[in-house]
Amino acid sequence: MPLIPDRMLDDVQARTDIVELIGRYVPLKRSGRHFKALCPFHKERSPSFMVNTDKQIFHCFGCGVGGNVFSFLMQHDRLTFPEAVRQLADHLGVRLPEHDTTPTERAHQRLAPLLEDACRYFERVLLDPVHGQAARAYLQHRGVSDAARQQFRLGLARAGWSHVVSAAQAKGVTPQQLEAAGLAIQGKSGWYDRFRDRLIFPIVDVRGRVVGFGGRGLSPDQQPKYLNSPETELYTKGRHLFGLAQAKEAIAARKTAIIVEGYFDCVVLASAGLAEVVSPLGTALTDEQARLLKRYADRVILAFDPDAAGEQATLRGIDVLVESGLEVSIAQLPVDIDPDEYVQAHGVDRLRAVFGQSIGIFDFLAAIAAKRFPTRTIEGRVNAAQFVLPTVARVPDAMLRSEYVRLLAERLRLDESAVGAELAKVAPRSALTLGRRTRSAAPVASPGAERLLTALVVDDPVRLSMVRQHLAFEDIQDPGLRRILERISQVQAHESLTTTQVVSRLTEEGHGPAVSALVELAQSVDSPSEAMEECVRRLRSTARQRRRTMLQAKIQTAQAAGHEQEVERLLRELQYMLVEDQQVSTG
Ligand code: UTP
Ligand code: MN
Repeated sequence: MPLIPDRMLDDVQARTDIVELIGRYVPLKRSGRHFKALCPFHKERSPSFMVNTDKQIFHCFGCGVGGNVFSFLMQHDRLTFPEAVRQLADHLGVRLPEHDTTPTERAHQRLAPLLEDACRYFERVLLDPVHGQAARAYLQHRGVSDAARQQFRLGLARAGWSHVVSAAQAKGVTPQQLEAAGLAIQGKSGWYDRFRDRLIFPIVDVRGRVVGFGGRGLSPDQQPKYLNSPETELYTKGRHLFGLAQAKEAIAARKTAIIVEGYFDCVVLASAGLAEVVSPLGTALTDEQARLLKRYADRVILAFDPDAAGEQATLRGIDVLVESGLEVSIAQLPVDIDPDEYVQAHGVDRLRAVFGQSIGIFDFLAAIAAKRFPTRTIEGRVNAAQFVLPTVARVPDAMLRSEYVRLLAERLRLDESAVGAELAKVAPRSALTLGRRTRSAAPVASPGAERLLTALVVDDPVRLSMVRQHLAFEDIQDPGLRRILERISQVQAHESLTTTQVVSRLTEEGHGPAVSALVELAQSVDSPSEAMEECVRRLRSTARQRRRTMLQAKIQTAQAAGHEQEVERLLRELQYMLVEDQQVSTG
């Protein structure tokens, strides 16, 4: 059940002009009746991103994204469906009922003021002439500028057990509420502050809202060195990038992000004037973080600490980033010096030069492989290739992938086609499609006709009646397409909707990219009615052929088992089918 009444959804959708909306984010060029742009969702040189004004949808032929006004915002700004609707409604001045906010939104409304208050409190303590003095001196000694301190909203949690808990209680906030915000802990003898005697690094989401904190111990004996917020309704590990809110404009301007390991690296580099720096907050990079970066960056420089742990983190990071289509290179810092120490010792220009000389993933992986495997032996060379291949398999660009295969074969003196064959084994995606192709090979499947038919129905749902007359939904082999057809049929059974409404309904339900691709396909057809008839004819004949094959198989089984009556019944059925087929082909 959608939480926002359909009437309102339709209203918001109808009153939002997709060209105007997308035009706020990407420069659109008119092309015939429609509009074109460079796709904001992947890197490209010539525009394959289309905005269809008739259907009020967009679609990219390059990367396959697509949908309506809601899905555009969902994908571009990573909003949930209700958030996207709300944003557009706000823009139009449409008031939506309050209860339909998402759980995350509600958590924000509840917890955000507490986190914001705590953040301000920590900031104030750091500026306190007495209590904050040592911490400020420490920051200065570490090379954190006042500007960066303010920009990152650094703060201080005082030593002592209940500064935050008491301050909140004085304002009527209960310890339980603080606990939900990740700020208080219940002990045997009462509630106490989670962050004590620590330098505070607020973790903020891309919109700049505080969602959690990291606290660095100020005395060397404090364990752990960094204490982070626990997972709360607002803070989930792996969903945020420290520094992104501060860095996003700089990243977008250069289309490049630099990923470092720690809080201090971010803040110190920003102090030195390197603004495009983020940190994954002490976890292995997740694909959610990669997707977050992809909104602003085309390229990423990994600058993890040059130690064994950093090397492991780099290897994992490469896979995740490469898979989301980012171009990755790896900074080569001297051993045992992290980016913040490097900038302190050698200055920002030399650090920039180091980043400028970052090496590509291929060279990086090959170097590690050469270090880990004795490439003087054949086995060592093969192992080295096997080590590199899983990463190559993640590269979305086929040309780049085959170029890596060529290079890998050349460098390790292996046969290129053999390396390519091994790649096919480790490539999860190609393995899947290969498997599917062989399985459905037996009766001639018509993926083209199924797609075109579904496209024509999405384009004009009235055509569904023709499908109903001649086909059963089970005759559609592709489960995704079948689901779309079934869904249209269900929706149409209740109310008769316009094409735009059907498209929007399907999009809400997560079929956006498929649906927009189908609409584009339908639009490319010259004579839709003929195409529709042709599709139905072909699918019907395929379906009947499939049924005949199945009947024949059943007959064989029944014969082998000696079930005479069953054989007879099946034979009659087959006979009947053959007669029917004859009528169809002559009539
Ligand atoms: P580092 O130990 O390299 O910290 O951990 P750092 O940021 O360089 O700090 P300084 O320069 O020693 O003061 C890297 C990151 O790993 C996470 C933090 O996000 C930290 O910034 N971490 C580290 C934790 O979450 N907990 C820890 O106990 C240690
Ligand atoms: Mn450090």
